[in-house]
Amino acid sequence: MANDGLNTRGNWGSKLAFIFAASGSAIGLGSIWRFPIMVGLNGGAVFVFAYLLAVILIGFPLMLTELTIGRHTQKNPVGAFKALRPGTPWKLVGYTGVVTGICILSYYSVIAGWSVGYLYKTLIGAFRGEMTWARSDQIFSSFTSNPLQVLICFLLVIILTTYVISKGVKGGIERWSKILMPMLFILIIIMAIRALTLKGAGPGVSFYLKPDFSKINPKLFFYAVGQAFFSLSLGMGTMITYGSYISKDDNLSSSAGWVCFSTTLVALLAGIIIFPTLFATPGINPQDFQANTGLMFQVFPLIISKLPGGYIFGLLFFILLLVAALTSTISLLEVPTAFLIDEHNWKREKAAAVIGTAAFLLGIPSALSSGASPFLTRIDLMMKMDLVFGNIMLAVGGLFITIFVAYVWGIPQALKEISHGNRSFKIKPLWIFSVKILAPLAIIAILIFTIILA
Ligand code: TRP
Repeated sequence: MANDGLNTRGNWGSKLAFIFAASGSAIGLGSIWRFPIMVGLNGGAVFVFAYLLAVILIGFPLMLTELTIGRHTQKNPVGAFKALRPGTPWKLVGYTGVVTGICILSYYSVIAGWSVGYLYKTLIGAFRGEMTWARSDQIFSSFTSNPLQVLICFLLVIILTTYVISKGVKGGIERWSKILMPMLFILIIIMAIRALTLKGAGPGVSFYLKPDFSKINPKLFFYAVGQAFFSLSLGMGTMITYGSYISKDDNLSSSAGWVCFSTTLVALLAGIIIFPTLFATPGINPQDFQANTGLMFQVFPLIISKLPGGYIFGLLFFILLLVAALTSTISLLEVPTAFLIDEHNWKREKAAAVIGTAAFLLGIPSALSSGASPFLTRIDLMMKMDLVFGNIMLAVGGLFITIFVAYVWGIPQALKEISHGNRSFKIKPLWIFSVKILAPLAIIAILIFTIILA
């Protein structure tokens, strides 16, 4: 298989190459770090249920929509809207995506930096011996409240990301994901099995998988849709950009389906690791996992210490977690970079360096908001950034993208693009219903409810 990635602005080497690259963008801290936080914040299994609905009914159709715009126009999000409706304000949707991408990159890289810190800690044996909740919690908070450590790790992530992007998409995105993502997947499965066999795992499993429908409320759906968009890299044009490299022979809907499936699977498994482990660990109480940004970093060392060969296992896990995070930061940086290259004729190196620097400066306050600066910690700045950019702006972006395709560019045009490489588009009715009615209405309703209830 001639599978060495992208031919200039041509195609991914193959359909499989695209699926790996797009899954690389999607699978990352969103599924492993953010999803369990959202589950804890929103009452457990009901949230899991709402998230699955959001992925199937809104996320998947929106991914297909973004890929379709991308493949049709062969452009970055701003260029794509300009090409389809020149001289209209629709290009603002693209611009919003570019800005949202930089803002998400800023705090996302801080968390990716925590993985760097944890990799180092594992290496020097910080997690050797008996791991208790109190000890794990202490390691986490002393790490995140040390400004120098946090900023250095954060900077390292930005430098790595900028380096990969400045070398071009081809060598960059794909080489990472092909071998390492499947390895991460295997490690996650092993940890999930270990977590399920812990003594006292039962209540955690119930919390995570047995829905208590009395906890349903509009906010939960807001977070579920936000989480679906965040984890699938939707709502800001990542998938428009990635779609612009897909060949006309590929089946867009099955590609989107695979990406959604693999991402959701990783998120579900992350929860299977976190909650049983959490409930089986003495000394925690429910406040510890409600709106706790450190959740993943506090819980994973606990389960890793219970595995045979925990030291090596831990090293491998944090290396792979970092790779998963990097394939996502790379995709976040690629959108604004592609925009500057295509629309303003910047050199790739310069574009990547300028945006990388901007994201670093913008991320400094977030980096200091988990203990290093009392003020920023009190206002919980990172979670505020995440609420605004990771939830609201992605939802707004998704709303305008669906409205654009359904009512401006037109369903028939989109269907024509989808039909290349997919003659018998089987789920056509679901897609049309979602793009025309369900997705826009659901997003509007959720946004209004949230504003009223906030
Ligand atoms: N989906 C990635 C994750 O879950 C993060 C990400 C990459 C993203 N590109 C994005 C989120 C675009 C929103 C939009 O880790």
